[in-house]
Amino acid sequence: MAKNKSVYVCQNCGAESPKWIGHCPSCHEWNSYREEIVTAAPPAAPGRDAVRRKPELLSGIEANENDRITSGIGEVDRILGGGMVKGSLILMGGEPGIGKSTLALQIALATPGRTVLYVSGEESEGQVKLRAKRLDGKNDRCFIYNETEPESVLTQTGAIKPELLIIDSIQTLSSSMLESSAGSVTQVRECAAMMLRYAKESGVPVILIGHITKDGTLAGPKVLEHIVDVVLQFEGDGNYVFRILRPVKNRFGSTAEIGIFEMGSKGLREVTDPSELFIRRDRDPASGVTIAATVDGVRPFMIETQSLVSSAVYGTPQRSSTGFDTRRLNMLLAVLEKRAGFRLGVKDVFLNIAGGLKVSDPAIDLAVAAAVLSSNLDAPVDHHTAFAAEVGLSGEVRPVARIEQRIMEAARMGFTEMVISGFHRDVKDVPGLKISKVYKIEGLVRLLFS
Ligand code: TYD
Ligand code: MG
Repeated sequence: MAKNKSVYVCQNCGAESPKWIGHCPSCHEWNSYREEIVTAAPPAAPGRDAVRRKPELLSGIEANENDRITSGIGEVDRILGGGMVKGSLILMGGEPGIGKSTLALQIALATPGRTVLYVSGEESEGQVKLRAKRLDGKNDRCFIYNETEPESVLTQTGAIKPELLIIDSIQTLSSSMLESSAGSVTQVRECAAMMLRYAKESGVPVILIGHITKDGTLAGPKVLEHIVDVVLQFEGDGNYVFRILRPVKNRFGSTAEIGIFEMGSKGLREVTDPSELFIRRDRDPASGVTIAATVDGVRPFMIETQSLVSSAVYGTPQRSSTGFDTRRLNMLLAVLEKRAGFRLGVKDVFLNIAGGLKVSDPAIDLAVAAAVLSSNLDAPVDHHTAFAAEVGLSGEVRPVARIEQRIMEAARMGFTEMVISGFHRDVKDVPGLKISKVYKIEGLVRLLFS
């Protein structure tokens, strides 16, 4: 006989406590405990599996790369490491409206004739159909199922035998076996575990869509991240059209690749040349604008940094940046003030990374410093010049990773000069691109403005 008990579960990390507590000792979240009723399953007979399954010798196990199936979308396959591994559980997280359902539906429609079951707990069949009409793909073996009970889903997978299962979203699933409400940690964890079992037993890849909380983590399910094989994070600014799909965890590939998409009237389009998207070539040179050769994961692209420096009207100068860490900006300003003698302490400084992108690559430092100086002196920097170097506290210009890739990308995009750290050794010249080396921030000033 199953027994009911009530526990308090942290909705952030899944830690349990017999009584309510305000502060989670495990993940340090405040006010995250909620009461949940768990129905304890009768304990499985010990060693039940021992009869069926035995340990196998690793050398005797057969597995090959053909155990992957294509998602039908090049960028998705690439970041997964060459397609979806059979029987894998893929979690795709992102803020509301970012395009998770759209991408999932595009995957469902991408391969004609492939049997796909798309379970939508949020939208009706009609709504999904309306969306599908806007998209390019066409697959007459795509089933849409508006259901929130995992048991019913599994009954249907038995009948339809899909080659791919998509759950939109895991937070809407709720098993009637559990008494806690849909979206609670217990529900999410148990439903995900059911999908995991299905995936492993059937060899069908399962894509779970997960919601994200306002602080950017997957809602509730830190627990989910442990269960699933792959976690993909969908990022982007709702005010801009492009989206980045970033693997946060991948049991079958690297997490260094990123996929870039553009949201348009026909859904998401793959962006194979991101540099084209993030820089403008047709403009006249303007002060305060420079171009950085950045790398995200292993992907190099050029990006525009814009700065505006003006005299502070009020007593306290303003420092504001979008897409770049404000503390890092303050540090760069202090370096420019102390090491290069610019009186930026009395200036308002605004910094913007074009396209609403967030850049954490330290190699963007030099472009930021150059943009600030350019705006401060009101002297444009040639927009055929790219920058890639980190700036240290003592004003030294430091080398960065993957410099060859950055140089190749700059050359490909038609830049004629690239400013890098002088500490890079063996950097080869590229036809048409002059490499300028600077060692200190003063060197940058001399190079650009004298
Ligand atoms: P959606 O996939 O519903 O987001 P999520 O599932 O992550 O909440 O995406 C909704 C947004 O995408 C919505 O703001 C409209 C936009 N969109 C387009 O711009 N073009 C399209 O073809 C589609 C289908 C959606
Ligand atoms: Mg959705």
